[in-house]
Amino acid sequence: MTERIASTYLTPDSESALYRSLRDFWHPVMYAADLTDKPVGVRLLDEPVVVARLGRKVSAFRDLCVHRGAALSLGWLEQGKLRCAYHGWTYGDDGRCVEVPARPDLPIPPGACLTRYQAVESAGLIWVCLGTPRYEVPPFPEFTDSAYRILTGPSYDWKISSFRRLENFVDMAHFAWVHPGVLGSREHAEVTDHEVWRDGRDLRFEHTVKEPSSGEIKEQLGITDAVFDVLNSYHLSMPLSIHLTRNFPNGAHYVVFMTSSPLSQRECRNFWFVARDYALDERHDEGFMNFEHLVLSQDKPIIESLRPEEIPMDLTREMYIRVADKITVEYRRWLLEFAREEGTS
Ligand code: FES
Ligand SMILES: [Fe+2]
Repeated sequence: MTERIASTYLTPDSESALYRSLRDFWHPVMYAADLTDKPVGVRLLDEPVVVARLGRKVSAFRDLCVHRGAALSLGWLEQGKLRCAYHGWTYGDDGRCVEVPARPDLPIPPGACLTRYQAVESAGLIWVCLGTPRYEVPPFPEFTDSAYRILTGPSYDWKISSFRRLENFVDMAHFAWVHPGVLGSREHAEVTDHEVWRDGRDLRFEHTVKEPSSGEIKEQLGITDAVFDVLNSYHLSMPLSIHLTRNFPNGAHYVVFMTSSPLSQRECRNFWFVARDYALDERHDEGFMNFEHLVLSQDKPIIESLRPEEIPMDLTREMYIRVADKITVEYRRWLLEFAREEGTS
């Protein structure tokens, strides 16, 4: 049975309004370990951004020198300041120009100031907000929990919107079809009912799935049943981060934290970590990463094929099956609220 979705709140420009609303959230732009003693150029929401460690802080600016528009990410750091590679203008952590080497005798023009964005380091990532953040940076508590072994996955770019990427991660009905024998089984393709609710800034859901006991994640558990139940508990930190705890029947946990960075309306860069409190020896690491890479390689061609690349804000343009698509429906309803607020602000 399909679910009827009302297209209330819809404006002709809703996809763009949703995209614009993303300026008011924190987004990851790179792994913190990769930001050392050089400025780095990244892209966020079509905006070129330079991030750098100026003094003890992480700073982010539009990647554009106010003199002639050179990319500051081609420059370098000197005594906690950012020097442009073209004519050597130098900027402090507040974005103000403090040196014009060609005329050190003249006062610095008062307008010589970079466009500055908020930036913060949290849970192994550098986060940037281009506007005014509605929520805190999404939490990933296991990152500093000594009971867990943390692995950092290489970031990956997909040619699809961040929203489509997120929806794929929380889509219960695809496991049996895209990941048979890995995350699902076609003998158990049905999706059983589950609660979906809002908790602060999180969309929450829990779902018990029958999984084959193959794959490195499960082989290390010491459970010999061919298929066993796994309770997957999700915190979807709106709008683009997922914290998934996989609770195994013997009490072990496997956590995936994934956060999608919108490079543009139709391209995303995805950052991720896995954390486990069993099989802690590092000789198991490769097997766990191989498992995740297998899952991603199965998802990528399907998800990049989705059209339109953005999720349609006219929700009646796609179809929804009761129970199986419940999470997608609730996620889209919430996004629609962001789009509506943006459209009317
Ligand atoms: S463009 Fe940067 S100093 Fe001239
Ligand atoms: Fe998948």
